[in-house]
Amino acid sequence: MGGYIVRIRGLQGSEAHFVVRQGESLLAGAERGGVSPIPVGCCRGGCGLCRIRVVNGCFWRGHMSRRHVSAEQAGDGYALACQVIPESDMEIELAGVVAMNPLSQYCVNQE
Ligand code: FES
Repeated sequence: MGGYIVRIRGLQGSEAHFVVRQGESLLAGAERGGVSPIPVGCCRGGCGLCRIRVVNGCFWRGHMSRRHVSAEQAGDGYALACQVIPESDMEIELAGVVAMNPLSQYCVNQE
């Protein structure tokens, strides 16, 4: 089974790339990789959590809420990772909540 390598610009180490299987969404491939910095939400193009910008590569694009990616932004490469089906190796950058709040820190103590 074939697949494509997706590199995330600006990251190092295991977070910096993952493999997406043919026909699989970019977000599904990132999740399967287990170390993805791309947040997962509705997986239907509606919540905008998985927003990215494609720097290089070819892909099919499914339905995306215009609230999160305008037509103009789509022309600049912005997309929702759950609605991107890669058709080549790709380079992307984070463009959603993680990219907008890079210094956010979360601590959980459930004791
Ligand atoms: S996970 Fe909700 S738009 Fe992609």
